[in-house]
Amino acid sequence: MKGIQRLWNCRKGIIQCLFMMFSWKAVSGQIHYSIPEEMHKGSSVGNIAKDLGMDGKQLPDHGLRIVSPVGMIQYFSLNANNGHLQISERIDREEICREAEKCMLKFQVLVESKLKLYGIEVEITDINDNAPHFPLWEQELEINEASMPGFQIPLPKAQDPDWGINSVQSYQLTGSSNFALHVQTKENGARLVELVLEKSLDREEQSAYNLLLTATDGGDPIRSGTLQIHIVVIDANDNAPVFSHPLYEVSINENIPKWSTLLTVRATDMDEGINGDIKYSFQEITKRDSQMFLLNSTTGEIILIGNLDYEESSLYAFEIQAKDGGGLSDRSKVVISVTDLNDNAPQLSVTFATNTILESSPSQTVIAILNVQDRDSGINGEITCSIPSNLPFQLKKSMDNFYSLVTDGALDREQVSVFNITVTVTDHGVPPLSTVTVITLHVLDTNDNPPLFEKTDYTFYFVENNQRGAMVSSLKANDLDWEENARITYSITDDQRSDSRLSSYLSINSETGVIYALTSFDYEDFRDIRFRVKAQDGGAPPLSSNVSVTLFILDQNDNAPQILYPSPPTDGSTGIELAPRSSEPGYLVTKVVAVDADSGQNAWLSYQLIKATEPGLFTLGLHTGEIRTARFFLEKDALKQSLVVLVKDNGQPPLSASATLTVVLADTIPAVLSDLSSISAPVDPPSDLTFYLVLAVAFVSCLFFTFLLVLLAIKLHSWRNSQLLESGSVNFSGAPISQFVGIDGVRAFLHSYCQEVSLTTDSRKANYSNTLSSKEACEAKDPILPGEDLNLNNEGLIVVQVSKQY
Ligand SMILES: *[C@@H]1O[C@H](CO)[C@@H](O)[C@H](O)[C@H]1NC(C)=O
Ligand SMILES: *[C@@H]1O[C@H](CO)[C@@H](O)[C@H](O)[C@H]1NC(C)=O
Ligand SMILES: *[C@@H]1O[C@H](CO)[C@@H](O)[C@H](O)[C@H]1NC(C)=O
Repeated sequence: MKGIQRLWNCRKGIIQCLFMMFSWKAVSGQIHYSIPEEMHKGSSVGNIAKDLGMDGKQLPDHGLRIVSPVGMIQYFSLNANNGHLQISERIDREEICREAEKCMLKFQVLVESKLKLYGIEVEITDINDNAPHFPLWEQELEINEASMPGFQIPLPKAQDPDWGINSVQSYQLTGSSNFALHVQTKENGARLVELVLEKSLDREEQSAYNLLLTATDGGDPIRSGTLQIHIVVIDANDNAPVFSHPLYEVSINENIPKWSTLLTVRATDMDEGINGDIKYSFQEITKRDSQMFLLNSTTGEIILIGNLDYEESSLYAFEIQAKDGGGLSDRSKVVISVTDLNDNAPQLSVTFATNTILESSPSQTVIAILNVQDRDSGINGEITCSIPSNLPFQLKKSMDNFYSLVTDGALDREQVSVFNITVTVTDHGVPPLSTVTVITLHVLDTNDNPPLFEKTDYTFYFVENNQRGAMVSSLKANDLDWEENARITYSITDDQRSDSRLSSYLSINSETGVIYALTSFDYEDFRDIRFRVKAQDGGAPPLSSNVSVTLFILDQNDNAPQILYPSPPTDGSTGIELAPRSSEPGYLVTKVVAVDADSGQNAWLSYQLIKATEPGLFTLGLHTGEIRTARFFLEKDALKQSLVVLVKDNGQPPLSASATLTVVLADTIPAVLSDLSSISAPVDPPSDLTFYLVLAVAFVSCLFFTFLLVLLAIKLHSWRNSQLLESGSVNFSGAPISQFVGIDGVRAFLHSYCQEVSLTTDSRKANYSNTLSSKEACEAKDPILPGEDLNLNNEGLIVVQVSKQY
């Protein structure tokens, strides 16, 4: 064969020669030619005439022609002139013989002249006229990236219709070292071309490969065909999603509005398609947190759907998961810390509070216990508790969040009875928030104030001869306390010298303080009543105070003057006065002595001579009551002169009394008697009268001196007592005072022996001296009001006073 191929390279002519030679060799039974395919038309295959041994000159005569079966393509033509067999049609071995190993074209040549048929065989030899080719230009193959090395994929085979060595001899794969080619020849000679995965694939690294498969034949020249192999690496879920952070931390203000996106978590997955399709979800989340946050499964946004409150929870931590469609997942943690804002006002609750307190409560008495809280934390939760500083209270921090409100100082209900204590709690946030509570505290009364009279002492004036039960006056005490502690009860009390009869004179309405007279007062009986009124409140223990009350009885002109001398007739006779006939004008004959139990103007007596036997003979001192002679007596003047004297007081209306005096104009008593006997027969003998008179005078003067001594002794004694008692003891001296009250028996004596005294102690002067002696008590308003009785005045006058004891 090799020798032939070498020859093939020689010139065409030589080739044809060689074919000739070859043909010759075949001639035994029939003529055999061998030609390569694809020779040009008209190319000579061989000279049949010559090969049949026929002379060229008579050829046309032989009548050579090709006899071929009907329908067969005439590949050859026979030149009848020179006997050359020529190619008339293109001969493609692959078309005619396909796969056959030997390709023979057989026909007969008829020699008409001899009527002889000769078999002709033309063997068509193969030339490499076909390149290997693949059924497709390119092919796409999908290989899962997860495929293991050694994985095989059959590849299409290249076709080459040529025969033998001209057919496909080898395959080559280029483009990637990841792939190799595996060609194996089966027993039946069929070859199997497979793509073998040499190294494992990673779609994420390289998702596609372009390979070129080349098939080459063994012809000369070598021909080849290629196939573009496009390998697509199919994703396998070989990558799990990966979160961008192992921990997501975010800090947010607690006032962030609902539906805000707090953060976005992100996970990546190198895979594609469903393997890279990540769905986010919560993992291990509490119900509370799941109601607070929403995780968008596609975007990874964490959205706030609840209301954050730092005070409820300041930290949220949960796990999230990212999962791809292939079921791979990753987890991460989310920590959401909430930042406190000063959004909570402090809370103040009163754990304990009393709304009343006794004013006597000591300092540091607990009024209320307060609990303060602020739900915020840090500085927002720091609080200050305060009350106004001007209140007598104090806030004391007792425990962590407890304050006690205590009194700080003394309370006085009488000053402030209700306190509104404003407790303010403020936190230290910016801006600060505060809460205010008012605690109302009523201060309860304690009996700490005694009743107080409006005046330090009371002086009342009350006119005598009042009606029983008449209202004398009223006094009032006030108590600053409250209710029962201020309910005042009045009562009349006396000094230590308790006089049980006081209660029969006066009574006081215990509630109103109005004083009533129980009896009708008589100025002449007593002129003042001194007592004390006590006001006592209803507290326990009760408090009381008392006040001195002086009730002065005012005089009314209810007493007519009383004539002491001359004494009123008891037996129808009148007193007889002697007036010597030789008396000079102005001779004091006698003196009418009268007193008036009243006082002042009501006792200011005036004397009037309203009737006289001989008018003009006697004068009467208007205020002295002295009867004096107005002229010398004359003979013609009657021996017995009768005078009627009217004594009148100065009251309104005035009261009066009258007395009748008989003045006898005689020098001596015997003369009188003789004179009288001439006037009136039935009279006692004068000697007897004189004797009795002298006897009486002597007796009376003795009595008087005794009386004076006794009186002096008594007075001295009582003066000493009064000195002892003088120190402020207020006395109820219900003494009816008449400056000049004598004992009946003394009266006559007074006239005779105490002329001087009686001269200065007539009713009017007596009053004045009394006034002088009690200046202090009387000078205020009424100069005629008598004060305390003085028994011994500084003028040395002896004033007789008889106190009636009650
Ligand atoms: C997630 O976000 C997307 C885009 O904003 C939205 O269309 C989708 O409705 C959201 N899903 C949920 C469950 O909220
Ligand atoms: C205390 O508060 C009460 C009720 O608010 C009010 O009626 C009263 O006048 C207040 N008293 C004082 C002393 O402020
Ligand atoms: C009257 O008050 C004084 C003190 O002011 C007291 O000493 C006296 O005991 C009181 N008298 C009566 C009867 O209560």
